[in-house]
Amino acid sequence: MLSSDQKACYGIDAPTVIRNLFLTGCLVLLVGANLYWFLEPAYPVVSRLLGIGALLAALPLLIFSFLMIYSSRWGKFKVIQDLFSQLHLQNHDVILDVGCGRGALLIEAAKQLPNGKAYGIDLWQKVDQSGNTQEATLRNAHIEGIADRIEVLTGNMLAMPFPDQKFDVVVSCLAIHNLANQAERHKALEEIVRVLKPKGRLGLIDFQYMEEYRTILQQLELSIETFSTKDYRMFPPVHMLIAQKTI
Ligand SMILES: C[S@@+](CC[C@H](N)C(=O)[O-])C[C@H]1O[C@@H](n2cnc3c(N)ncnc32)[C@H](O)[C@@H]1O
Repeated sequence: MLSSDQKACYGIDAPTVIRNLFLTGCLVLLVGANLYWFLEPAYPVVSRLLGIGALLAALPLLIFSFLMIYSSRWGKFKVIQDLFSQLHLQNHDVILDVGCGRGALLIEAAKQLPNGKAYGIDLWQKVDQSGNTQEATLRNAHIEGIADRIEVLTGNMLAMPFPDQKFDVVVSCLAIHNLANQAERHKALEEIVRVLKPKGRLGLIDFQYMEEYRTILQQLELSIETFSTKDYRMFPPVHMLIAQKTI
């Protein structure tokens, strides 16, 4: 049973990267502090200079790890709000979140669709998001009170188990860049276009390959409505892209 005071938890993106940045930052900080303050070396000037170098190198590593946590916990939700404010969902829309993870976009979409339905598809990779499971997503949906309007499937975005032209809108955040190479990213975008209805709209948020996605989508005959400048509320900073199927 879920009690009413429970809060949804959407996990931390790329937890292994954050852990490695933080631990390396701490290690380099320790080495720097030892070289600068504690050792009594034969060449004190050299040791101090090396110490300063190490301390300066540690700073960005630690700052990046904190920025990535900020991004997962707060910044991403602001960018997602902006995406949905530009997508103008209709009451009855059927929407798909590709690589939905613990449901940050999926659940926001379902909240905006009192008579619609939001589908999520994912492979639940824990290296991409902490605590990433189908159960965690369903639990968040129950806590947020929209479980009756979502459906969550296990599946690969490269071969999605949906018929052609099922969705009014497809969204995806920080998911497509995880694919192995350009051929796979191309295939994923083809799949997205396949499942979109004629005139359907697509909203993407990602920090890598966004120019590549834009080119591929244009080749697939979508019109690009929005391609944002870099948004620093997320780290690494992201672009937002909104496109529409022209046929
Ligand atoms: C960084 S997480 C982002 C999750 C969610 N979109 C969000 O913003 O909170 C990336 C997600 O993409 C999923 N993913 C990676 N490769 C996938 C694939 N080939 N098919 C489906 N999902 C995939 C991962 O399992 C993970 O849940």
